[in-house]
Amino acid sequence: MGIYIYNRLEGKIAIVTGGASGIGAEAARLFTEHGAKVVIVDLQEELGQNVAVSIGLDKAVFYRCDVTNETEVENAVKFTVEKHGTLDVLFSNAGVMEQPCSILDLDLEQFDRTVAVNVRGAAAFIKHAARAMVEKGTRGSIVCTTSVAAEIGGPGPHAYTASKHALLGLVRSACGGLGKHGIRVNGVAPYAVATGINSRDEETVRMVEGYCASTGILKGVVLKARHVAQAALFLASDDSVYVSGQNLAVDGGYSVVKPM
Ligand SMILES: NC(=O)c1ccc[n+]([C@@H]2O[C@H](COP(=O)([O-])OP(=O)(O)OC[C@H]3O[C@@H](n4cnc5c(N)ncnc54)[C@H](O)[C@@H]3O)[C@@H](O)[C@H]2O)c1
Repeated sequence: MGIYIYNRLEGKIAIVTGGASGIGAEAARLFTEHGAKVVIVDLQEELGQNVAVSIGLDKAVFYRCDVTNETEVENAVKFTVEKHGTLDVLFSNAGVMEQPCSILDLDLEQFDRTVAVNVRGAAAFIKHAARAMVEKGTRGSIVCTTSVAAEIGGPGPHAYTASKHALLGLVRSACGGLGKHGIRVNGVAPYAVATGINSRDEETVRMVEGYCASTGILKGVVLKARHVAQAALFLASDDSVYVSGQNLAVDGGYSVVKPM
């Protein structure tokens, strides 16, 4: 556990989707270290439960929910508000990435599945979390995990790239709709991090990190889930009190530099 000069989310109630693994699990840990109580939402029950237990059940609980199912999403938000009385932060982070393929061989059912999680799932959570925030009168913060693939084509598979571009559109659109309620909506956009989405074992972790080290612009840092969680913490907290509609790149400059 870190020692901080001040807790950036003291007393705040947060939902972290995709919190059983990778970036979401790190965010759940970091948010609670900063004084929040977190509801970890994910499909992976055993992993999610283990993350909650490792954080401490007084600070984190697991709630099983498929983000593609609106009723389950609504129930996850209800569970949070019934348990904690309010909702201050939504970190909408659950996501999937399909295997890359040629656009000539695009599998449209797979395309729909990727979009269903990465865009529709986020839309459902923004809708129900924002309703709870408006009802409770909290000046909430919503943060969505986008990607460098939300800004440029190339680094991700086709459906993934399309879904992340759409998610960024949703972030901007929701920012416009929720500003009058004092609710901020932002994206956090990582370059590749070795997590469950792209790595099965130590060998694939080494491959992903080696690939990033060679293709990344910023040398000397290996991007970890914790770094992305720190950016999400900034956007979730009052440190970013007048920041809304932005897509904070955590990519060492990758999305804005074309190497010569
Ligand atoms: N790892 C990277 O390189 C990278 C880069 C840019 C963006 N991202 C984004 O970061 C986010 C987190 O991914 P990660 O890298 O931590 O991967 P991860 O696979 O470790 O975590 C994603 C989590 O989302 C959950 N999830 C998937 N579908 C779900 C559903 N229908 N309902 C509920 N939960 C579901 C998974 O069970 C998993 O626990 C994703 O949105 C991903 O697109 C990742």
